Amino acid sequence: MNEETKTANTTILVTGGAGFIGSNLVDKLLERGDRVVCIDNFNDYYNPGQKRSNIKGCQENPRYTLVEGDIRDRDLIMQVFKEHQPKRVAHLAAMAGVRYSIERATLYTDVNIQGTINVMDAARSVGVENLVFASTSSIYGDTDRTPFLETQSTDRPLAPYPATKKAGEVMGSAYHNLFGLNFTALRFFTVYGPRVRPDMMAYIVMNRIVKDEEIVLYNNGEMHRDWTYVDDIVTGVAAALDKPLGYEIFNIGRGEPVRLGDFVDIIQELVGKPARIKSVEAPASEPAITFASTEKMLGVFGYQPRVSIREGLTNTWEWYRREHGLV
Ligand SMILES: NC(=O)c1ccc[n+]([C@@H]2O[C@H](COP(=O)([O-])OP(=O)(O)OC[C@H]3O[C@@H](n4cnc5c(N)ncnc54)[C@H](O)[C@@H]3O)[C@@H](O)[C@H]2O)c1
Repeated sequence: MNEETKTANTTILVTGGAGFIGSNLVDKLLERGDRVVCIDNFNDYYNPGQKRSNIKGCQENPRYTLVEGDIRDRDLIMQVFKEHQPKRVAHLAAMAGVRYSIERATLYTDVNIQGTINVMDAARSVGVENLVFASTSSIYGDTDRTPFLETQSTDRPLAPYPATKKAGEVMGSAYHNLFGLNFTALRFFTVYGPRVRPDMMAYIVMNRIVKDEEIVLYNNGEMHRDWTYVDDIVTGVAAALDKPLGYEIFNIGRGEPVRLGDFVDIIQELVGKPARIKSVEAPASEPAITFASTEKMLGVFGYQPRVSIREGLTNTWEWYRREHGLV
């Protein structure tokens, strides 16, 4: 690529870019010609080897830069922004597990709130045009009001994790008000697909069936999740990065909740073996249903999720088999 084309490209900084969603996003941005700076600390919440494997494909790309560092390290983050002068930021780095957060509120506030403030300060210090923040459907807590609308209350999160994401959203509002930072929060609804985190249902079910281990299922599978395929998610993130909107919040989901038991049934079919299931009562951190209203995303970005659960799980299973040397 010549220098002229290079300067015409936009630099996008992706925090958490070695993780599940982040690495899929980085691939998409590189594919369309952006320059990407990825910041990730490769923490051991789950096997960092999986994160190394996620980024293998992009490391040879001249438009890709990897910075191994922690968003809690304010000086480092300021320095990285100063050096690379990104135009846009996708802020995905976070401690992301709900259950893991129950006894670790301090860690979650350090990373998800203080770390987010570091990223926002660094963004405004170099005049970033647009910051997209990964928020979550768990912010809605336990509610009977379905589908979930961006305008409904999110004041009663069930665990520290969604509480810290709520803090990120409201701090974004303050920074928009005070410093004119363009800030778009996208509330992701249960994401799955290739590179899925090992603590998430799609991975757990595949892995346990393969290893003949018992699967603990909440409420006999009588819960609903609005599972959303990772390609659909990163398409929405890329669209949001391209369109500064002041301060906005969007759901990004499929809008078709699936019963947990049915989700497990499809995986059993794909793996070709029955699951050994033990049902337990769902903990207080788990809502009975997540269900996105996708109207706002459709209206503003023309966003429509494309991948069905069966197709998405088939792709996830293929990835799992490759990753574990089963093919
Ligand atoms: N996966 C989902 O279903 C889902 C749903 C809602 C919201 N989200 C949000 O999307 C984002 C990405 O989630 P994911 O599922 O890809 O998780 P992930 O854990 O795979 O990705 C997060 C990445 O951030 C990195 N990271 C964590 N702490 C860091 C720190 N202090 N400094 C630098 N890097 C750090 C991790 O090493 C990891 O690679 C997170 O913000 C998460 O809260 C995910």
